[in-house]
Amino acid sequence: MKFISVVGARPEFIQATPVSRALRKNHQEILVHTGQHYDYLMSQTFFDELGIPAPDYNLEVGSGTHAAQTAEILVRFEELVLKEKPDAVIIRGDTNSTLAGALVASKLHIPTVHIEAGERSFDRRMPEEINRLVADQLSSAYFCVSQAAVDQLAREGITKNVFWVGDVMLDANLANRPLARQKSTVLSKLELDPGKYSLVTVHRAANTDDLARLSNIVTALSNVGETVIFPVHPRTRGALQKLDVQFGDNVRQIEPVGYYDMMVLEENARIIATDSGGVQREAYFWSKPCLTLRDETEWTETVQVGWNKLVGVDVDCILSAWKTFTPPAEQPPIFGDGTAGEKIANILGQIQLSVH
Ligand code: UD1
Ligand code: UDP
Repeated sequence: MKFISVVGARPEFIQATPVSRALRKNHQEILVHTGQHYDYLMSQTFFDELGIPAPDYNLEVGSGTHAAQTAEILVRFEELVLKEKPDAVIIRGDTNSTLAGALVASKLHIPTVHIEAGERSFDRRMPEEINRLVADQLSSAYFCVSQAAVDQLAREGITKNVFWVGDVMLDANLANRPLARQKSTVLSKLELDPGKYSLVTVHRAANTDDLARLSNIVTALSNVGETVIFPVHPRTRGALQKLDVQFGDNVRQIEPVGYYDMMVLEENARIIATDSGGVQREAYFWSKPCLTLRDETEWTETVQVGWNKLVGVDVDCILSAWKTFTPPAEQPPIFGDGTAGEKIANILGQIQLSVH
């Protein structure tokens, strides 16, 4: 079969690798980068490190409002799909690239395959929630990270071609551990001792576009009493410049890091605090306590098993959890066994894909 795979934002590059590798054994895959992320440290570094095949097309849409960015992808992607005539389009997650991919494919009557389907925050003020809801309505096959996502799709009436395969991010994490440990020099570059710092990422619109929330995060991180390594997403860098409050000396803001450096920073952190979906899961992969700087999460299993705590942006709540949060000893395999990419490729070779 001939697939077009759509990627555009940082986590999608990481998620693409395990699937591409497995898919290309028996199928043709055309990789389309929408250009949603474009800085070297937000895009090309992942292709270089992970050996992702160079995209066959880069739509170079760049940044914009939700409508402008999505519209640019729609126009440019439609032209490409008409030319390439794939049997199916593969989208993943919940970005504007995901939404646009689903819309273009379904209007052209081409089946859409959604990886990381069925995740919900139940907050429609979150742009990703809109993208996920639409993508799941329009898709023809669904690959879910967890049983909870399968159950959610069933509650929404979606039961055909729904498969629990686990998390492709776990595939990528397990496959890249040896190389990351071997190649990354981030600890010595930043003069960090394992276990003697915490790692933080923040980029959700709900936190960056609400200066009161962002200001709370700055205050809390400045008072945790330990070194905080904070690779700053470009969206967040812009928002921080608008704030009156400054970080304390314990918070070390750095440029976004490549995947290997991020893995090593995660593996050696004492604790991780984040609003990222990917980093919440990676904290679990590395058996690190995770504080989630949001009021809700899609990754409820990590909270249920006691390894992730929702702390929102209340300063006292963050500071108290920072000192006391201790996960249990057990870590059930809620994200599968690291073979999601293989499972997806095998299933795609067996099922009938049609637009319903
Ligand atoms: C997007 C996704 C989000 C995902 C995140 C991963 C949507 C709606 N959101 O959010 O789900 O978690 O990617 O990181 O699709 N920018 C740069 N350089 C870049 C990319 C972005 O400077 O290479 C800046 C621009 O000012 C841009 C802003 O970051 O306006 C936001 O980028 P955008 O892709 O719109 O959303 P993200 O916040 O990155
Ligand atoms: N990541 C990275 N460098 C960074 C921050 C994150 O390589 O400076 C990786 C992280 O390890 C994870 C992915 O990017 O694999 C998560 O992407 P992000 O947090 O941007 O988006 P989300 O997962 O929230 O959609």
